[in-house]
Amino acid sequence: MHKMTRRQVIAMIPSSTVLLCPAILNAQTNIDADWADIATTAPIGENYLIEVPAGPAEVDVTALLPGEVTVIARPTDDETYGSTGMIQYIAVHRRTDEQIAFGAANDRAGTVQNPAYFVANLVCTHRGKAIGITGNPDAPFACTDRGDRHSSVYDAAGFGVSGASEDEYLSIPDYTLTVTDGAVVIQLT
Ligand code: FES
Repeated sequence: MHKMTRRQVIAMIPSSTVLLCPAILNAQTNIDADWADIATTAPIGENYLIEVPAGPAEVDVTALLPGEVTVIARPTDDETYGSTGMIQYIAVHRRTDEQIAFGAANDRAGTVQNPAYFVANLVCTHRGKAIGITGNPDAPFACTDRGDRHSSVYDAAGFGVSGASEDEYLSIPDYTLTVTDGAVVIQLT
C-alpha cells in the first residue's frame, strides 16, 4: 500500500519490507528564515517520509542517493517523543564522500554501522522537539524550534555545533543496517 502526503511519497507496508519510491527533493538551506514559523512536532526537509507501524520495522533504503535523507515515522509509547506527538522520527542519511570522510574523523565510536549511512533519532536533545533536515552538507540537522533559547544545529555526525544543544549528540536508535547484493535495508528493533 502506498500513500501520498503533501510533503513526500510515503510507502507503508505493515509487516513487510518497505521500499523507497522516487520523491521530491525538499532540501532547506536558509533555516532561520524558512523555518521561522514551522511546526516543531515533525521533521522538515527530508527526501522521503515513510510511516511504519509501532514495533519492529524493516525498510529498504537502497534508493537513497548520496546526500539524501529518508525519515521513518513510527508510533511509540516512549515519553521521550512526547513533543513529537508520540512519533519516533528516525533519519537515515546517506552520506556524500565528503561526509563519509568527516564521519571517519568525527563519528562517536560504536554508533555508525556503515560509514555511508548515518542513522539518528530526530528528537532534539534540548527539549525534545523535532529535528529537521537543513540541506547544508556541513550541518545537515537542526531543531525545528528556531527561538532564541533553542536553535540547535548538528553536524553530519549528529553533534551539536550551535544552539541549546551545543556539544550534545543526537541519540541513536537500536538498528541493524545490512547491504546485500546492492540492497540496503535497515531493521529497527
Ligand atoms: S528543543 Fe531543540 S533547541 Fe530547544
